[in-house]
Amino acid sequence: MKTDYLANPWIKSLSVYEPGKPIEEVARELGFDDIESIAKLASNENALGPSPKAVKAMVACAAQMHRYPDGGGYYLRQALARKLNTDMNSLVLGSGSNELIEMIAHVFLRKGLNLVMADRAFVVYRLVAAAEEASTIAVPMMKDGFTHDLGAMLKAITPRTRVVFIANPNNPTGTVVEPRAIDAFMDKVPDHVVTVFDEAYIELMAPDRQPDTLRYVREGRKVILLRTFSKAYGLAGLRIGYAVAAPVCADLLHRVRQPFNVNAMAQAAAIAALDDDAFVVRTRRMVRNGLAYFEKECRRAGLETVPSAANFFLVKVGQGREVFKALQLEKVIVRPMDGYGLPDYVRVTVGTASENAHCMKALLKVLGCPVRKGRP
Ligand SMILES: Cc1ncc(COP(=O)(O)O)c(C=O)c1O
Repeated sequence: MKTDYLANPWIKSLSVYEPGKPIEEVARELGFDDIESIAKLASNENALGPSPKAVKAMVACAAQMHRYPDGGGYYLRQALARKLNTDMNSLVLGSGSNELIEMIAHVFLRKGLNLVMADRAFVVYRLVAAAEEASTIAVPMMKDGFTHDLGAMLKAITPRTRVVFIANPNNPTGTVVEPRAIDAFMDKVPDHVVTVFDEAYIELMAPDRQPDTLRYVREGRKVILLRTFSKAYGLAGLRIGYAVAAPVCADLLHRVRQPFNVNAMAQAAAIAALDDDAFVVRTRRMVRNGLAYFEKECRRAGLETVPSAANFFLVKVGQGREVFKALQLEKVIVRPMDGYGLPDYVRVTVGTASENAHCMKALLKVLGCPVRKGRP
């Protein structure tokens, strides 16, 4: 049955997002029957699992799942407004921050307009632009190849630009832009542009190092912040994130939002997770220790890594896609980076201490590095 000819003509040129491979798929393909022994370090998930308070809240509301959710997400927006010291009307909930990225594209982009992003920033930005027939101006990163060059991004803005995406910390590089660079950008960004700070990993940074971008929202600037419960709170499977923006901008996003876009269990879990500071502190500690472990072991093995502020890091391995495949045979799933113009690298998510050791041992084996006694 041929349906291609019925589709909008640009749809066939769109690329499909390549997600991290699910454990079950790898197990099926390679004939492993002990799923538990596979270390999935491919999707920047929280190795501690979900916030225990969130799990309790999910169980408590399970018997109410015959009801539609609160479409406006009143109680979660109220809890967020309290936590962030912001106006409830500044908050929009999404089915993951991915959905909010898509809503931003619906609202601000169309054929003939463009978005500006860093060339090695989160790929979903360019996918949503293409779905609206808008173009993407991908700006090379700093000389180091891994950090947003906000000066160059400012210069890349044209009269047809409507959105600039700044992922901070950035996926897949794990780098951050310093508050001074953000301020300099915000001083000069033209009035016809909405700046989106995608802060999916922000809670993983030490609180005193987190940039105060909320200030721009309070000042009524054309800024949207994107946050998620997928990372620090360990709720990736529930699909829940939020945007913070001036109420007039939040109102625009609500207009393209589906009526019940965030499910009831996700809302209940997120409210409980927000109250679980101890879990976020534990997550931060696990990530910091894991990154330190990988950095030390990679240095000992002569492997280059990119310093990261998030729960993953890039490591230079030569043929990234080949190493990705070989690691799967060792029951470790990482992410190849050729899609980001980094064919020599793989991205590794920090896992539990035993997953990290499993990964390091496998990496050294696959790369043919000598394994030292008492070490992985
Ligand atoms: C930079 C960045 N933004 C947004 C997302 C989307 O997260 P979610 O849709 O789970 O909230 C991710 C997911 O990995 C990410 O890395």
